[in-house]
Amino acid sequence: MKKRILLGVISGLIAGGGIAGCSEKNTTEGSGHESPTAHLNADWPQLTSGIAKDPAMEARIDELLARMSLEEKVGQLMQVEIRSATPEDVKNYHVGSILNGGGAFPNDNKHATVADWVALADAYYNASMDTSDGGVAIPMIWGTDAVHGHNNVIGATLFPHNIALGATHNPQLMRQIGAITAAEVSATGIDWVFAPTLAVTRDDRWGRSYESYSEDPELVRSYAGELVEGLQGGIGSDELLGDRHVVGTAKHFLADGGTSGGIDRGDAQMSEEELVRLHAQGYFSAIEAGVQTVMASFSSWNGEKMHGHKYLLTDVLKNRLGFDGFVIGDWAGHQFVNGCTNVRCPQAINAGLDMFMAPDPSWKELYANTVEDAKSGALSAERLDDAVRRILRVKMRAGLFDAGAPSERAFAADESLIGAPAHRAIARQAVRESLVMLKNNDGLLPLARNQRVLVAGDGADNIGKQAGGWSITWQGTGNENADFPGATSVFGGIAEVVDAAGGTAELSVDGSFEQKPDVAIVVFGEDPYAEMQGDVSNLDYNGDADLALLQRLREQDIPVVALFITGRPLWVNPEINASDAFVVIWQPGTEGAGVADVLFRDADGAVNHDFKGKLTFSWPNDARPELRNRGQNEELAQFQYGYGLTYQSGVQLAELSEESGLQQSDASEALAVFNGRALDPWSLQVFDAGNNHAVIASSVAKLQGIQVQSVDRKVQEDSRRLQWSGEGNAMAGFFANSRTDLSGYLGNQGALVFDVKVDAVPSDVVTLGMNCGTDCGAEQSITELLKAAAPGEWKTVAVDLQCLAQRGAKMDMVLSPFYVRTAGALDLTVHDIRIASNTDADIHCG
Ligand code: BGC
Ligand code: BGC
Repeated sequence: MKKRILLGVISGLIAGGGIAGCSEKNTTEGSGHESPTAHLNADWPQLTSGIAKDPAMEARIDELLARMSLEEKVGQLMQVEIRSATPEDVKNYHVGSILNGGGAFPNDNKHATVADWVALADAYYNASMDTSDGGVAIPMIWGTDAVHGHNNVIGATLFPHNIALGATHNPQLMRQIGAITAAEVSATGIDWVFAPTLAVTRDDRWGRSYESYSEDPELVRSYAGELVEGLQGGIGSDELLGDRHVVGTAKHFLADGGTSGGIDRGDAQMSEEELVRLHAQGYFSAIEAGVQTVMASFSSWNGEKMHGHKYLLTDVLKNRLGFDGFVIGDWAGHQFVNGCTNVRCPQAINAGLDMFMAPDPSWKELYANTVEDAKSGALSAERLDDAVRRILRVKMRAGLFDAGAPSERAFAADESLIGAPAHRAIARQAVRESLVMLKNNDGLLPLARNQRVLVAGDGADNIGKQAGGWSITWQGTGNENADFPGATSVFGGIAEVVDAAGGTAELSVDGSFEQKPDVAIVVFGEDPYAEMQGDVSNLDYNGDADLALLQRLREQDIPVVALFITGRPLWVNPEINASDAFVVIWQPGTEGAGVADVLFRDADGAVNHDFKGKLTFSWPNDARPELRNRGQNEELAQFQYGYGLTYQSGVQLAELSEESGLQQSDASEALAVFNGRALDPWSLQVFDAGNNHAVIASSVAKLQGIQVQSVDRKVQEDSRRLQWSGEGNAMAGFFANSRTDLSGYLGNQGALVFDVKVDAVPSDVVTLGMNCGTDCGAEQSITELLKAAAPGEWKTVAVDLQCLAQRGAKMDMVLSPFYVRTAGALDLTVHDIRIASNTDADIHCG
């Protein structure tokens, strides 16, 4: 429990951490502060939701609200997870909503059947409708991450990820994909999906780039409404939110794709005008298409967390953009709002969040505290009623009050919908249209079918790899081909066409062969990842083994077609040079046969399907972490937005530069983090015992449970005294909004070195940490070391970087090189914090 909160604290700190210079509106008042309602600071359009309010429905809601107890109302605000809530809980706490996180299945069984899903949906539904306690029956609503098809369910149709769909430039196709996803989700008795992601990714180091259709807002806007109408049913049609449709979610509001450094859950530092122009466009068409829920982003805008952002959630989204559905939180994201914890956050609801996503078992505490806050007035009665009203409105619009138990609904338990051939055919079309050809020298493609084809690379026959993140499991890892019944690998599709035409397709992952092939197709690229774990420090593909494989085949005079699996543009110039043809296949999902459809001629030797895919992300000309987008640094693009060859192009690509542009960080000199002042890019930041975040710019700052003061050691104010009172967990350290590469120090006996003076020995465990993002970093106890220090005397401490690296700090992407946290009392002063090489460390690992 303790550990969880602290991890949250760290990611909160990191994520809000880029406000150096901006003296934070201090901290203790939390985020419930007033913001202007009438006055908006940029040109936000006045919109109307595609689904009009129905007076009869509103009257029915009034009537329900009048009958609901305060506890029942608060229950509606809770979304809990199938791993930590039983149907009995749903009944007892009047829980409004259920979700299954990525990789969560009925009975913890990855191979749960459609019947298992429906049975669980029934159990929760029945519990929500149970009025034996004299309460009001409100059907629960179940949400799931069907982000590229119904991806938690074995046998479902998995579409290419959004970055690939962007390349199709086909908004109509999005509507079909939405409708198919909705049908498969309906078959499992689930009502609501957390899609589409409308992120406009600007820095491709972000690990969720693949969830983004484009770096360009125009395309995202043209897709969002179509996808929403596909999922929910067309505006004005009989199908709208009918049995075969589900509620959609526009996420993650707002500017999740605009964080500095592409840091997951980071801070989008930009003007409001840029928010409107770049990051909000998709929401405009989604709202006009009637999207019923919006998910708040983990990220911040100019240092303020979206989950507590009253101006954007209420003044902009609800009041100006006319959104009358409800705002759902993201995975306990409320805990990062100033002054909040995982189990208490009236600030978020007051700011405009309508439903907490509270996935861990502590949700019962959150519920109890929220009831208390509603009674005390910390949560305004008006806001509570409005939130419940919105939730009930969406449930009514979705027909849940009249639909009966999930198993009684028209398409429930219809297994034939899951992975139906007609669905797979559309997914296969999406694959075909998404492929982007970057090189086709000497017109190597399209290939004749009746040849001897060698298919190599670790992506050739690996459906998990071609499906990417959010595929059965959350990160998309740990799957085998057998976990995707009905799916086709890239090799499977090739073998089908080649074998039928009398050629031979040989699978050889390492590229070895007995009989020389006519052509080699090498399928390689990024392994699956999802949020947090997918962030990288630069744009280098780093695939030495794949490059060697391409070169080896080339040296044997075999023409080479490279098929690159990736969730983002990466620098692959060496790999492109080592191939005759190079095609980006993204993460195509379960229908790998769509690749062979385009690569091979038809049986008569004519072009079967030409390439249609065009980049919706600029492709980098080196590996440096520069921003490269349509209209931004276009000269740094090897292939610009919109690039993509066809069989008519006839372009002969010349040798590309193989200068990555990356430099080894210079480890010969010490790198100062703090030498009287925080060095760029770091600033001294504190997370106090009340979970308030502050950037310390003044010489004294008193916060809850922690105080920071500038003091003199050798010269004026060259040191910082950090005093913990023991009132609760608090942390102080140096944080940045951009990454620093310390990897050069690793091989050089590098250490984190600092001088410290202890004036009051610790009363509890003291932890020293280094951080590289959410769930990325290393911690080390320094309790004994501090206890052993002579009181009042300076001492130098060195922590081996290898040790921190072994414990999980990624040295090439450090955000915080130094922080200290404790729940106990402690008084220490730090001086001269640096990263140095050739140091004898006091702290080594194991
Ligand atoms: C992700 C969301 C997702 C949610 C529920 C979060 O971590 O950011 O995109 O919908 O989890 O699984
Ligand atoms: C869960 C996923 C969830 C993710 C959100 C993971 O621990 O297994 O279901 O979406 O956290 O951060």
